[in-house]
Amino acid sequence: MTKELETVDPQERFLEFFKKEKYRQRIAQMAITGRESITIDFEELFGFDQRLSEILLDKPDDYLQHASNAAYGQLGIEDSEYAQKMEKIAVRVVQLLGKEQLRKLGSKQMGKLVMIEGIVVRATPVRPMVMIASFKCKRCGTISKIEQTGQFMKAPTVCTSPDCGQNGPFEFIQEESTFIDSQDLRLQEKPEDLPPGQLPRTLSVKLVGGEIVDLARPGDHVSIVGIVRAFAPSRPGIGKLRTFILQLDANSLEVLGKEPETSPPTIEEEEKMLELSKDPWVHRKIMSSIAPSIYGYEHIKEAIMYLLFGGVSKTLPDITVRGEMNALLIGDPGTAKSQLLQYVARIAPRGLYTSGRGTTAAGLTAAVIREKGGSMSLEAGALVLADKGIACIDEMDKMRPEDRVAIHEAMEQHTVSVAKGGIVATLNARTAILAAANPSLGRYEPHRTVAENISLAVMLLSRFDLIFVLRDVPDKEADGRMTEHILEIHRRGSSPVEVQVDIELMRKYVSYAKGIKPVLGTEALKRLSDFYLAMRGASETEGSPVAITARQLESLVRIAEAIARVALRKEVTAEDAEAAIAIMKRSLGEVGIDVSSYKMDIDLIMTGKPKSVRDRLHIVLSMLVEMEKETSIVEKTKLMNELELKHKIPRSDTERMLGQLLREGTIYEPKEGFLKKT
Ligand SMILES: Nc1ncnc2c1ncn2[C@@H]1O[C@H](COP(=O)(O)OP(=O)(O)O)[C@@H](O)[C@H]1O
Ligand SMILES: [Mg+2]
Ligand SMILES: [Zn+2]
Repeated sequence: MTKELETVDPQERFLEFFKKEKYRQRIAQMAITGRESITIDFEELFGFDQRLSEILLDKPDDYLQHASNAAYGQLGIEDSEYAQKMEKIAVRVVQLLGKEQLRKLGSKQMGKLVMIEGIVVRATPVRPMVMIASFKCKRCGTISKIEQTGQFMKAPTVCTSPDCGQNGPFEFIQEESTFIDSQDLRLQEKPEDLPPGQLPRTLSVKLVGGEIVDLARPGDHVSIVGIVRAFAPSRPGIGKLRTFILQLDANSLEVLGKEPETSPPTIEEEEKMLELSKDPWVHRKIMSSIAPSIYGYEHIKEAIMYLLFGGVSKTLPDITVRGEMNALLIGDPGTAKSQLLQYVARIAPRGLYTSGRGTTAAGLTAAVIREKGGSMSLEAGALVLADKGIACIDEMDKMRPEDRVAIHEAMEQHTVSVAKGGIVATLNARTAILAAANPSLGRYEPHRTVAENISLAVMLLSRFDLIFVLRDVPDKEADGRMTEHILEIHRRGSSPVEVQVDIELMRKYVSYAKGIKPVLGTEALKRLSDFYLAMRGASETEGSPVAITARQLESLVRIAEAIARVALRKEVTAEDAEAAIAIMKRSLGEVGIDVSSYKMDIDLIMTGKPKSVRDRLHIVLSMLVEMEKETSIVEKTKLMNELELKHKIPRSDTERMLGQLLREGTIYEPKEGFLKKT
């Protein structure tokens, strides 16, 4: 096949291709936008000359060169002035007919042009790379220009001046060398492509050229067309290894749509979905199909259902309000928290399961890491990778200290900002979060507050729309039923509960529902505002603690919208609002708020501190800050003396309050006996 074609000049064929009206126009307009490359749709080339397109895939180095020469020739015809300025133009190919799986890449694809989709997990800043290096001979001053390929910079072996011809020494002259922008990415398999139970693989990608660098940020889903290269890593003093490492030299890069990809439903599927949505029991049916093998926990499954569907994000000119929901499960060990989370990660579009520590250096948010060669790169953490999906974070209480700082922004603003090591970036993290945490004391102690039970900052707790407590209390009757359920699973090897909506349909249904943006009906609006105002009003009297905050009101709206979405309704009804209020009450009740008596103090629940205590804590903190101004870190005994002297707070009380502030992370102990505010 190859032989036959070589009788035709490939460059001529490409030139003919570029004479098509569409490409002539693209080439003619290059000067206007200052472009340095021309993009070819592979399918068109395939339609134009199938063999040419096939050989392009097989011998991309030669054939991209032919294409580039041809494009340059055509540029000379269309716009000779710009052609003279450009010296050469690059040809970029997009949308190959088939994509290659990242994990299937091997020796067979070496040197070939392939298309690979994945998530960018890591990116270096844009860095100049030398293309033509100028070297000055120190003996005669002649400049030799050396075209650069490969990883390392090549110096001339002998001086190019015929009068000199000696082997240097040479000095690199930066001002006379040509550079091009380059960037290194690390591409990871998309969760959709991951075989069950496998860890995702990654591939390093080299981007060269101002038009493809800096297009993608960590967390972006991209499609890259490039040539598969392999190079042997070298061990200093020993030589090169026999086993090569694969790398992709990118030819083109496209950032893919932000929505998780699911194939559009067929007509039958759509009918099935619409039928399900009209079922008066649709909520119950979907709920009972979530983690059917896990016994009980109806209210938690209900919350998970709302989390899957989500509320509607609102983007106003000045602010954006997230639509994604966050839920937290706090519970005793062995209460199926991990199982629930893993299940959700499996069924949710773009679901991701991770532990609080995260599985990579980037943890939950993002990190700037130093790579082997000493260069810095930005790596996306779990919340960025789960952008537009659901992040299931197990053992969240064990997250890294860096994440504790960054996660507030991630949960409320849905972005992760990094400014470190010369990298300044903001990444998207528009993800719903289902988190689990173990009680810090081993078991959940109901007479203590939520904040006392887990080691998570109070501010963080308030970012969860719903919080539930899973307690493992011996209960004869319930235990009996649960034992039966679990043993039945083990006996049959399948769930004893019949699923009404299978995973496949559920996933499609969720994607479909997300296209609907329900709005609050007047009646729904009234119910929500009545409930909210009643609770606020209960705490209006002078000096009483602050009750529910605007955060809870927004949560209620999100939940109500999700409820409408489950039934594919465009309007949130009064019933939806009531159901949202009901689950919110349940959640508040679980964290210790008595909703019926309207005696609520979110501060008390979350922080475990009624207002009077808060006032005293405030005094302690202000004093600490005051003293910090002088000594930067404060000696504990001195602080206690001051408080006793000026505010008559007994030392034992101060001691206790400091313990509490330490535990919740408001202050810390940089060294034994010294304190500092976080
Ligand atoms: N309600 C339940 N229904 C079914 N299995 C359960 C239930 N509660 C606990 N289990 C089982 O107990 C085991 C421990 O669950 P796990 O998810 O690891 O707990 P946790 O993460 O809360 O410590 C799992 O095998 C789980 O299937
Ligand atoms: Mg667990
Ligand atoms: Zn010389």
